[in-house]
This record gives sequence, structure tokens and C-alpha cells, in this order.
Amino acid sequence: MPQWDAQDYHGSSGAQQKWARELLPKLRLAGHERLLDIGCGDGKVTAELAAHLPDGSVLGIDNSAEMIGFAQAHFPPARFPNLRFQIADAARLDFDAEFDVVFSNACLHWVRDHRPVLAGIARSLRPAGRVLLQMGGRGNAADILTLVEPMIAGAEWGGWFRGFQFPYGFHGPDEYRGWLEAAGFRRHRVELIPKDMTQAGRDALCGWIRTTWLPYTQRVPEARRRAFVEELADRYLAEHPPAGDGLVHVGMVRLEVEAERD
Ligand SMILES: C[S@@+](CC[C@H](N)C(=O)[O-])C[C@H]1O[C@@H](n2cnc3c(N)ncnc32)[C@H](O)[C@@H]1O
Repeated sequence: MPQWDAQDYHGSSGAQQKWARELLPKLRLAGHERLLDIGCGDGKVTAELAAHLPDGSVLGIDNSAEMIGFAQAHFPPARFPNLRFQIADAARLDFDAEFDVVFSNACLHWVRDHRPVLAGIARSLRPAGRVLLQMGGRGNAADILTLVEPMIAGAEWGGWFRGFQFPYGFHGPDEYRGWLEAAGFRRHRVELIPKDMTQAGRDALCGWIRTTWLPYTQRVPEARRRAFVEELADRYLAEHPPAGDGLVHVGMVRLEVEAERD
């Protein structure tokens, strides 16, 4: 399991936060719902969700103890009375008809088999409960992957990547619709959405790679990680230089899923 640096993620995840905020209107919150945020990370998005639920409540779950510890420390019950965090695995949800809404942003591509996740979500929802998930989908970050693959097969870095397997579940609508139906969701929308991620220059690009491309960076010994991240960023910038305003653009593809229980 990757070791997240919650503080570093907190400072380098503006892109994920921006996309989460874009999802908010699609949640159509009335203000009284009980919501589950799967893969809540550092908790800042979860706290924004809680602010939209003055008469409801939010539980953020994550399987990283580091992330949950950070979220609990930064968003304590004394200041956020309708918000709680707990360690839990998305593939082993243990809730029974507790939630009106299940939300997840930028998490579920970390899980390769989504069938147990969807079965757990279906069990967690009350009748007529809704789910809104966004994650990396088929074709996500292809320009980064095209550059990292020769790096991890090459002479300098390859020794640390023996037996390495592609870590992400970047799925598409065809297989996903079937999994939703099998979990009991009959009304659903599943779309691949191309998204332009912007990073404010080389340091921000390095920050994003350093804080989220953990299955790759953590293969490399700590003393060499910075060099690995910078080489990947520099290879990327050589092929995709910053625009006139200094912003670096990365082509991403999100899989967005909306579904409702009977
Ligand atoms: C990129 S962060 C996204 C955090 C937050 N949702 C956001 O939008 O900023 C991905 C999070 O998913 C969590 N995660 C990955 N696999 C998970 C799993 N199987 N169960 C629960 N959380 C998981 C990671 O620990 C990490 O905190």
C-alpha cells in the first residue's frame, strides 16, 4: 500500500480540489443528507461537503492512517460537529443502509477491482440513495504514462521496477455499466470526461508527481526519489512546455459515475 504524505498532499492537491468543487452542484444536496466520502484523503474536500449539509452529516473514510490522522487533526469535531473521519477500505465497506449519498473524488482508480466497491456502496445506501463517483478513467494521464514507461524499463531506474505491474484501475463505461447493474443500480450515467489539468509551472508539476504517483516513486529509494520525479517532470516539459501564462497542461480522463438505488 502506498505511504501518503498527508501534509504534502494537502499543499499540492489544488487540481483535485478544483475538480471536486465542480462536482458539488451535481450532488444536488438539500442540506439534511448523511453523506459518505470514500477516499477522503486530507479531508479538505470532505469538510467542504459538510459545510453544504448544515442539517446533515458526513463521514470521510480512507485506508491511509496518515490521511485520516491528518483529517482528524485539521477538521476536529469541536469545529466541524457534523464531520467525522475513520480508517476503512473502499473494497470492504461495512455500512448497512446508513447513507443518502455516497461521493468519491480522485480515489477509486487506486482500486483495480471495483465490483466489491460497488456492492459495498449499494449496501451502504438507504433506499433511493444516490452515488456520484469521479476517478481516473481509461486513457487517463496517457502522456505521463508514455514517458514513465521507458524510464522504468531503462538502465537507470529499471532495477527498482522488476515485476512492476500497472497499479491503477483506469476503467471505461462498457465494463462499468455491467458492474453497476450487478450491484443493483438500474438507473445510472457513466461517462469518460477528458479534463485539462493545469499545474502552475515545474515545481507544481513536480509536487503533483511527488504526492500522487506513489506506486512509481516509492519503488525508488528515498535518496533517489527527487531525481526520479524531476526527470519525469523534465521529460514531460520537454514535450509539453508551459503555455504563455506559465501553466503546464496535462491531459487527463475522468470516469464519472452517477447512479441511484431503488
Ligand atoms: C488522490 S487522493 C484523493 C483525496 C480526496 N478525495 C481529494 O479529492 O483530494 C486518493 C485517496 O484515496 C485513498 N485510497 C486509495 N485506495 C483506497 C482504498 N482502497 N480505500 C480507501 N481509500 C483509498 C488514498 O489513501 C488517498 O487518500
